[in-house]
Amino acid sequence: MSDPNISELRSARWFSPHDLTGFIHRTAIQAEGFSKFAIKDRPVVGIANSWSELVNCNIHFKLLADAVKRGVLMAGGLPLEFPTISLGESLMKPSAMQFRNLMAMDVEESIRAYPLDAIVLLGGCDKTVPAQLMGAASADVPTIMLTGGPQEPAYFRGRQLGVGTDTWKYADELRAGTITQEDFNDLEASAKPTAGHCSEMGTASTMTSLVEALGMCLPDTASIPAVDSRRAAAAEATGRRAVEMAVSLGPRPSEVLTEQAFDNAITLLMAVGGSTNAVVHLLALARRVGYELRLDRFHEISKRTPRIVNVRPSGEHLIKQLFNAGGISAVLKELGPLLHGDAITVTGETLADGYRNAAEPDGEVISKLEQPYDASGGIAVVRGSLAPNGAVIKRSAASPELLKHRGPAVVFEDIYDLGRRIDDPALPITEDSVLVLRNSGPAGAPGMPEWGMLPIPERLLRRGIRDIVRISDARMSGTAFGTTVLHISPEAAVGGPLAAVRDGDPIVLDVENQRLDLDIPDEEIERRLADVELPAPKYRRGYGRLFIDHVTQADEGCDFDFLRKLPDEEPQRLPY
Ligand code: FES
Ligand code: MG
Repeated sequence: MSDPNISELRSARWFSPHDLTGFIHRTAIQAEGFSKFAIKDRPVVGIANSWSELVNCNIHFKLLADAVKRGVLMAGGLPLEFPTISLGESLMKPSAMQFRNLMAMDVEESIRAYPLDAIVLLGGCDKTVPAQLMGAASADVPTIMLTGGPQEPAYFRGRQLGVGTDTWKYADELRAGTITQEDFNDLEASAKPTAGHCSEMGTASTMTSLVEALGMCLPDTASIPAVDSRRAAAAEATGRRAVEMAVSLGPRPSEVLTEQAFDNAITLLMAVGGSTNAVVHLLALARRVGYELRLDRFHEISKRTPRIVNVRPSGEHLIKQLFNAGGISAVLKELGPLLHGDAITVTGETLADGYRNAAEPDGEVISKLEQPYDASGGIAVVRGSLAPNGAVIKRSAASPELLKHRGPAVVFEDIYDLGRRIDDPALPITEDSVLVLRNSGPAGAPGMPEWGMLPIPERLLRRGIRDIVRISDARMSGTAFGTTVLHISPEAAVGGPLAAVRDGDPIVLDVENQRLDLDIPDEEIERRLADVELPAPKYRRGYGRLFIDHVTQADEGCDFDFLRKLPDEEPQRLPY
C-alpha cells in the first residue's frame, strides 16, 4: 500500500525501525510464517475474537473471523486475530456480569500493547458486546464491531419459542402443574438449535442492536441471523472497512461515541422494548469516553419514544422476523424524527446515510411511529425513599395493573434465603405482597446477578397468579418479564435504604409518577440504617476482591471506578 498515512500507523512504530527492536518485532511475525512482504507498509487489523467452547452463542466466530480476514486481505491489510477471555451467560458463575470489566480490561490492554492500527471486535453473547466496546473505547484505536447474530428460532409443540422468555414461562407452568416433566424435557432438547445469541430481544439482541444505533458497526448488520450467509459477507465487508479506518486513522471510538450517539442508542432501546441490562452497559460505556450519562436521560427518552417493534419479551416475534421485516435499519429509519441522524458512524458517513434505503414498516413486526405497540418506551426510572439514586422497571414487560401498587414487604436477605423460604406455607404472602430481595447488587452479591425476576410462590401460581410486585438491587435477564423493580441504588450491601426494609412495611410503587417509597417515617429509616450491620464482603482476595473494592453502583454502570475516563486525561500514545 502506498497511502501517505502508512508511515503514521501505530504498527509502523514496531515494524519500520531499521534497528534491533524493529528486527525483533518483524521476526515475531515472520516466525508465524508471514513473509516480509506481508508486514511491510501494511496496516495491521487486530481481530478481537470472543470465540470459546464455553460460550455457545459465539461458537461460529472462527468462521466469521476467517471472513473478516478475507476482507482485510482484499483491502491490502494484514489481519491478526487474538483471543480474549469470553463471557458465556448460561455457564459462568456466579454471574457473567462479574467479569464484564475484566474482559473490558483484557480487550483494552491487548489493543494498547500490540502493534494494531484498527480493531474488529467479534462479540455476541450478552456481556461480550459491552465488555469489548468499553475496552475499545478506552484504548481509542479505530474500531469497528461485528456482532454474531441471533440463533435460529426453536420450535416446541409446533410453536416458535423465544429461548429465554419461554423457558421462564414453561418453568412456571411446570411448577403450576399444567405441563409434565416429559414436556419440559422435550423443550430442553429443542431450545437452542444453532449457534448465535438468544433469539428474542434479550440482552444480547438489545446490545447488538444498540451497536448499530451507536454507529459502531456497518449499517444493516445487527440482526442478520448467525447462520445466514449474509453475516459472513458482512464480516468480509467489516474487514475491508477496518483497513480503510486504519489508513485514515479513524474514526476512533471517541469520535463515534458522542452524546448524540448515546441518545440514538437509548431511543432505539426504548423503541425495541429492549433489556434493562442495556441501561447499566450504556452508563458504563459513556463514562469510558468521559460522558456523564444520567439515569434520568433514559426516562426522558423513554417518555417521548413509542415502542414500534413487536418482538419478545415485550411483543410476539423473534429477531429472525425482525430481520426479514427490514432489521434494525428499518427501525432506525422509522425512528428518524427522534434521532440525531447526523451522528458520525464507523463508515465515516452519518447514521442517516446508513438507514436511508431501509424498508418501510410492515405493520406486523415493525409499526409506524404513529401506530406504535406502546405509546412510550419500555423502561422507566423510579426514585424515592427506597431508591434515592434511582431504579429501573421494564414497564413493557410488567402487568399494567401493578404499575401503581401499595403492599406489605416480604423480605429475603439474599438469594439463598429466598430459595429456602419462598415456598414455605408459613410465609405470609398474598398477591398484594411486595417481594424484596437485597444483598444482590454490584458489591453485595457481588456482580449484580440476574436474580431480579424473583419466583412467584408455588401456591400463588396454582391459584393462577403469574405476577406480583418484586423489587431488588439485582438485574434481571433481558428475556425475563414481570413487575420487577431492578438496579435499586444504592444497594443494600453498601447501606442503601433497601437494607432498612422489614417484613410487613408498606412499599409504594407508582411508575407513572416515578416513585418507589418505603412508606414509613424518614427518621425511622435513618434510625434502622444506623443499626444495620453490613454483610461481610464475599471475597477477601483476587479478582473478586478487586471487584468489590472498585465496582460503582448501578446508576453509574457498575464499571470499576479507576476505568472511567479522567477529566484531564490526554489521548494515550503508548507504548512508544
Ligand atoms: Fe448467550 Fe443468551 S445466553 S446470548
Ligand atoms: Mg441474558
